[in-house]
Amino acid sequence: MANEVCFRTRHLKEPWSMASYESVGGYKMWRDILTGKLKPETIIETLKASGLRGRGGAGFPTGLKWSFVPRNVPGDKYVVCNSDEGEPGTCKDRDILTYNPHQLVEGLAIACFTMGAERAYNYIRGEFWLPFQRMEAALKEAYDAGLLGKDIQSTGINVDIFNHLGAGAYICGEETALLNSLEGKKGQPRFKPPFPANCGLYGKPTNVNNTETYASVPAILQHGGEWFLKLGKENNGGTKIFCVTGDVEQPANFEVGLGLPFPELLEMAGGMRNGRKLKAVIPGGSSAKILTGEEMMACTMDYDSIGNAGSMLGSGAVVVLDETRCMVEVLSRLLDFYDEESCGQCTPCREGSGWVARMVRKIMAGQGETGDCDKLLDVAGKVEGHTICVFGEAFAWPTQSYILKFRQEFEYFIQHKKSMVTGKTFAFHHHPH
Ligand SMILES: Cc1cc2nc3c(=O)[nH]c(=O)nc-3n(C[C@H](O)[C@H](O)[C@H](O)COP(=O)(O)O)c2cc1C
Repeated sequence: MANEVCFRTRHLKEPWSMASYESVGGYKMWRDILTGKLKPETIIETLKASGLRGRGGAGFPTGLKWSFVPRNVPGDKYVVCNSDEGEPGTCKDRDILTYNPHQLVEGLAIACFTMGAERAYNYIRGEFWLPFQRMEAALKEAYDAGLLGKDIQSTGINVDIFNHLGAGAYICGEETALLNSLEGKKGQPRFKPPFPANCGLYGKPTNVNNTETYASVPAILQHGGEWFLKLGKENNGGTKIFCVTGDVEQPANFEVGLGLPFPELLEMAGGMRNGRKLKAVIPGGSSAKILTGEEMMACTMDYDSIGNAGSMLGSGAVVVLDETRCMVEVLSRLLDFYDEESCGQCTPCREGSGWVARMVRKIMAGQGETGDCDKLLDVAGKVEGHTICVFGEAFAWPTQSYILKFRQEFEYFIQHKKSMVTGKTFAFHHHPH
């Protein structure tokens, strides 16, 4: 079997159809559950043995997370899937929803059964129109086949799954903002604790996982925890989809075993575009700290290796930058995004995101002043750790790491009023949006 878990139907004709999914063993585990062959405890043990860690960014062990939901207490419980996929550079959940939606449906049904929930909500990024339609079609097929609904096949098991389209806010990918948004409230993060496992959607026990996390579950149960673990490496079980973009010849999504050396992943993406030199890599989505080309070439693609190098595997979005990239310009582009997307709830984030974005834009306009780098580091440091959710870190970390690793480019821009790399200056826009 090829090294594919979430993309295992991709080689088939109409990979999104139920027939294609069933031809690779799809719904076998759900049917086993419906015939009483699989118990919740066994499922959680298998997930723990598989080493599956959350694919949404933080990498929390999934089996452990599922065990936190008090499945036996009376009352409603919910399963929520995070398909908001807003992290710049990330486009893997989009492809799971579009090309293998049934595997997510089965993963969600299994999650409901395991955690004693009767309803699952799949929160889909607002711009994902085709993926949404594919998910809707998959749900219809599954209901028509009698695999979902009330008292499924007279087992007494009830599972209903709903797709919900977001409205284009990055912050709604943060799990508690997502829950508020689902409830029809303003999409702003909640204080934690309490955590969703005890007090989530409508104040009820709720499990939130990423699309890729849930979609991995059916294959894990089908082939065993050990099998999945061995696709990756110790403490980093399984495959992961990496979205390789930027200055490579063939940007694409690649599902590979965790632990793959970065140079091999780069090779899969056709190598550096036009044979240029590798300068830097954002290894896990735009909020991850940047790594220099040399640091990255020494890494393997897994949580531990990228973590030890001082960054994070995050969502698996790998943005490759070549020698022609001005790091001041790259940071400026990212900070404009975070400035736009801050939800405004916490003062350090609301004010800080605008502050750092404007300062870098000022440098780009040739109006930077001596001391700006230290001021940027000071502001970023005052945001870090002082907000309800980690959106604050999501722009503080890039700010700190770009200056730390490429300070000479920032100082050059301030001193010479033009980019050290491109020679360009940019007109100052107070608000570029
Ligand atoms: C600002 C912000 C945006 C996030 N966006 C996403 C997202 O688009 N998709 C996602 O799965 N997780 C996102 N997360 C992480 C979620 O809060 C949560 O950790 C994740 O859905 C848990 O799933 P997992 O355990 O399967 O990784 C975001 C977090 C923050 C702070």
